[in-house]
Amino acid sequence: MNCLSQNRKWNSFTFINIISIIFVVEAVNISGDLNEEFEADWAPDHIVTQGDQISLSLDSSTGCGFESKKKYLFGKASAQLKLVQGDSAGTVTAYYMSSQGPNHDELDFEFLGNVSGEPYIVQTNLYINGSGNREQRHYLWFDPSLDFHTYSLLWNQRSILFVVDDIPIREYVNKERKGIAYPGKQAMGIYGSVWNADDWATQGGRVKTNWSNAPFIVTFRSLEIEAWQFWWDKPVVKETRRKQLKWVRDNFLVYDYCRDVDRFSLQGLPKECHA
Ligand SMILES: *[C@@H]1O[C@H](CO)[C@@H](O)[C@H](O)[C@H]1NC(C)=O
Ligand SMILES: *[C@@H]1O[C@H](CO)[C@@H](O)[C@H](O)[C@H]1NC(C)=O
Ligand SMILES: *[C@@H]1O[C@H](CO)[C@@H](O)[C@H](O)[C@H]1NC(C)=O
Repeated sequence: MNCLSQNRKWNSFTFINIISIIFVVEAVNISGDLNEEFEADWAPDHIVTQGDQISLSLDSSTGCGFESKKKYLFGKASAQLKLVQGDSAGTVTAYYMSSQGPNHDELDFEFLGNVSGEPYIVQTNLYINGSGNREQRHYLWFDPSLDFHTYSLLWNQRSILFVVDDIPIREYVNKERKGIAYPGKQAMGIYGSVWNADDWATQGGRVKTNWSNAPFIVTFRSLEIEAWQFWWDKPVVKETRRKQLKWVRDNFLVYDYCRDVDRFSLQGLPKECHA
């Protein structure tokens, strides 16, 4: 395909997206309707729903999880979470979107617990066509176990944003035209879960889950999904986002796969790290 036809294709594509903002926007506020929109997919006896809240409990017998009944191709998924309080070492709480199958796409927030008084880490990751290994890790600027905070995944044709209380902490830009993988063809469901991961989660797996503090309870509330394909930002919004991403990177970044030269020494850093 030559440059010109590629360009034209892109333009009509964009045009269709602008149309779609008028016709396809579907905002679902799941509040009060949990059982219609979500179902337990693991250990239902460890899940309690009340009003617009879902509480998940982990004990030595099992963790648990839920998923949305519908799947979405692009959109914004938000949830408020209050994480396990006190000694949460060894536990992982996940809030993510995922499609199914061996070549699945997935966008993850994973909250790695810690001993009392030590900071949680939020790990974000993307799987595209079945392969992951795109972890970033951040500290947060608050204690996520003391109160509810909002975590959102914004996903359209142009980029993916991982957002905490309206502050973007990570952006993954669509560079498919440079041959870099981007999730854009498989619809994804929305998931929440809590499980034991004390082989790796806390201080590199050195601190194990203390089961005498079980059950470990995490609460999700105000789950919302807005299904859309397009968003348009004013330059001032872009500029604010750029500054916020830099603030987070400068102050809270713990780990970035794109800087982990040792890990990828054989095949070199993934392409998107250079583009
Ligand atoms: C996805 O991965 C499979 C191998 O698992 C490969 O055959 C296929 O070409 C990949 N698709 C894309 C779009 O990269
Ligand atoms: C737990 O606390 C230790 C000590 O402050 C810190 O090094 C680590 O990054 C924290 N988070 C996790 C998930 O291990
Ligand atoms: C596990 O928690 C119990 C109760 O909080 C505490 O007494 C005990 O010292 C903890 N064990 C470890 C190994 O930290």
